Amino acid sequence: MKHETIEKNIGLMAVLIILVISGGFLAEVVPLFFQKSVNEPVAGLEPLTPLELEGRDIYIREGCHVCHTQMVRPFRAETERYGHYSVAGEFVYEHPFLWGSKRTGPDLARVGERYSDSWHRMHLYDPRSVVPESNMPGFPWLFDNKVDHTDTVAKLKVFQRLGVPYTEEDVAGAVEAVQGKYEIEALVAYLQQLGTVISTKR
Ligand code: HEC
Repeated sequence: MKHETIEKNIGLMAVLIILVISGGFLAEVVPLFFQKSVNEPVAGLEPLTPLELEGRDIYIREGCHVCHTQMVRPFRAETERYGHYSVAGEFVYEHPFLWGSKRTGPDLARVGERYSDSWHRMHLYDPRSVVPESNMPGFPWLFDNKVDHTDTVAKLKVFQRLGVPYTEEDVAGAVEAVQGKYEIEALVAYLQQLGTVISTKR
């Protein structure tokens, strides 16, 4: 009977829905803002070097995150395949997160140090040269383009503002660190550090 009253009264229903959702938000989301395990970097976490940071932006520009997630879920099938599940403290310096939501290719959260640099280079130039059944596209232009360093300093400063502990020395040396490098070098440097702060030896 009471339920019928609610169902037939859209105003009351709306108010009750808002109440229920706010209750859930208070109980589930708000505590996360104050929880150390979620806000504090895991031991040994370092900000990306300027070269890795530029590599990350190339990763975003080329849409790698559209086919690849960077988040190992805490399920046996995932940890057996990819290594230790992802923990929040690994992502404290990431803005924005690249967790992704669709896996056309494998998860990359722990791909760092799994392959050699030259494997990555061959794979990114022509994926089918190393994985014959691959349907990943090649990215040969990364071997011709030099890293654009016009915004590197500004990027580091933005990250500093967001609480990433870049030092003034990092900022001062940023251009020099990426100048003259090819985009492929930046991207591979970025890939090779992914997930390595937690031991992933499987
Ligand atoms: C259209 C979807 C697609 C896009 C876009 C894509 N990939 Fe892939 N990727 C795949 C597929 C499918 C595989 C599995 C086959 C293979 O290894 O080539 C793969 C495999 C990989 C692997 C090997 C992972 C492993 O554990 O074996 C790496 C590394 C990788 N991709 C990096 C990248 C990077 C970096 C980019 C962007 C420059 C990118 N991918 C863009 C689909 C994609």
